[in-house]
Amino acid sequence: MYNGNENIVICDHPLVKHKITMLRNKNTGTNEFRAIVEEIAMLVGYEALRDLELDEIEVETPIETAMCPVIAGKKQAIVPILRAGLGMVGGMLKLMPTAKVGHIGMYRDEETFEPHEYFCKLPAPIEERKIFVVDPMLATGGSAIDAINLIKGRGGKDITFLCIIAAPEGLEKLAAAHPDVKIFVGNLDRELNANAYICPGLGDAGDRIFGTK
Ligand code: PRP
Ligand code: URA
Repeated sequence: MYNGNENIVICDHPLVKHKITMLRNKNTGTNEFRAIVEEIAMLVGYEALRDLELDEIEVETPIETAMCPVIAGKKQAIVPILRAGLGMVGGMLKLMPTAKVGHIGMYRDEETFEPHEYFCKLPAPIEERKIFVVDPMLATGGSAIDAINLIKGRGGKDITFLCIIAAPEGLEKLAAAHPDVKIFVGNLDRELNANAYICPGLGDAGDRIFGTK
């Protein structure tokens, strides 16, 4: 819970803290960075999937026949915000191997920090799916807010947002714009700088995942 908002969960697990410290280090190379992003996605995803519905099936154990819980057949969708969100997809798919994957392309204008959409493809029927939007960085909040607007505009209803690092400014803006969306955050950082980068942050997540720049 954050500022009394039950829709916001900030992870307090030591493994998540440790792994985020490794991401922050500017000497962590692309290969290791990508692997750690995937691991953190699994750990934050584990929290975010806590309320998945269960069905019961009959299973024959070596001892007896028992009714046992399995994840209910509800359709799920993982939707990364390109590019950096792609780094979290593998981890989420390890938790939900049958989920479908949509993509939303957004880039931030380097001067205005306003997000611009360049791609959107979502798995049908999006209105029936439990949707997990993933992006490592929640800075001003503009990209996440617009991505969720797009999904809602196409009928998406049951939406959860997951990130690795958030700035307080973006977190508050996202929670206010989409009060129905659950938000899971690996770590809440201090603030944004004048270039709308998160401090202390980890730099440009997309560049660090894909080795660009
Ligand atoms: C980064 C990040 C988010 C966005 C966050 O993407 O992955 O999508 O910035 O910033 P905001 O909260 O202020 O909108 P970027 O636009 O740099 O694109 P990239 O992933 O292609 O590098
Ligand atoms: N996008 C990033 O990748 N990093 C930041 O700190 C802010 C936006």
